[in-house]
Amino acid sequence: MSPRVVTVSLTEPQRRRAWRAAHQEGDASLAKLLALECPTYRGLSKQACPCHHEQNGSVIHPTAYVEGVVGARSRIGPFACVGPLVTVGADCVIGPSAVLGWEGFGYKRGDLTDREAIGPDLGPWEQKEQRYGVIIEDGVHIGASTCVDRGSWRDTVVGAGTKVDNLVHIAHNVVIGRDCLVIAHAMLGGSVEIGDGSWIAPHAVIREHIKIGRGALVALGAVVVKDVGDGESVRGVPAKKFQPNPAEGTSGAGGRDVAS
Ligand SMILES: CC(C)(COP(=O)(O)OP(=O)(O)OC[C@H]1O[C@@H](n2cnc3c(N)ncnc32)[C@H](O)[C@@H]1OP(=O)(O)O)[C@@H](O)C(=O)NCCC(=O)NCCS
Repeated sequence: MSPRVVTVSLTEPQRRRAWRAAHQEGDASLAKLLALECPTYRGLSKQACPCHHEQNGSVIHPTAYVEGVVGARSRIGPFACVGPLVTVGADCVIGPSAVLGWEGFGYKRGDLTDREAIGPDLGPWEQKEQRYGVIIEDGVHIGASTCVDRGSWRDTVVGAGTKVDNLVHIAHNVVIGRDCLVIAHAMLGGSVEIGDGSWIAPHAVIREHIKIGRGALVALGAVVVKDVGDGESVRGVPAKKFQPNPAEGTSGAGGRDVAS
């Protein structure tokens, strides 16, 4: 059988819709072709594209695996993975071994609720579809070995200017606003929302579906199980509101270099 050739030029939203439809119909070869289409040379598969490792001023390390779209002047580090439904904006840095757009972790047992599904002899876990993508907006930094999973009911989004440290887990459907800091070992559960300008300190754990307001501080090691309002600071396990030391500033790092 001769291979199907995609000759049309698709806009990015059209490409994403077509990928989802092909995936739904189980047409893996078409889904793969749509995913592999080079954004600069529309219709050319990336393997055949002469510019694939350097396009729009972006620099993609030869060991990186890129199926999605990479914006102008963005850098993709060694062994990083940019999956099929991923759009990386302009001026982003994607660190070594970061994984963007791997399928989110979603399993169910028939119609059982999560609590009912815990137990022996309840049958196999069935994987839930993870059909949506990942949108990394402009000027985002994603650190080494950080994972941003693709969505199950909406795209997972990292807002413009947000900086994410190494070894952070961002689950499916999470939406992070603009200019946030998410620091090493933070764990953002499925469908969490983080407001603009918030600070998520190292080792914070945020339960699924929790909403964190704008300009909030989640302290080192907090386990957040309730929503956090705009400008609020929380700490502890389970996390409770507190008034940070004003000398430290609302950021909690007192204006020091976050890496120090
Ligand atoms: C929450 C935080 C802002 C508190 O800073 P602070 O206002 O200077 O607090 P202090 O160190 O003066 O401690 C005040 C009290 O809070 C407690 N405390 C401090 N941090 C805490 C935390 N993360 N969780 C629970 N309690 C904490 C202290 O034990 C102390 O308790 P005590 O009064 O009973 O002795 C700070 O711990 C934090 O999380 N900062 C973020 C740091 C960060 O993100 N760094 C990134 C660089 S890698």
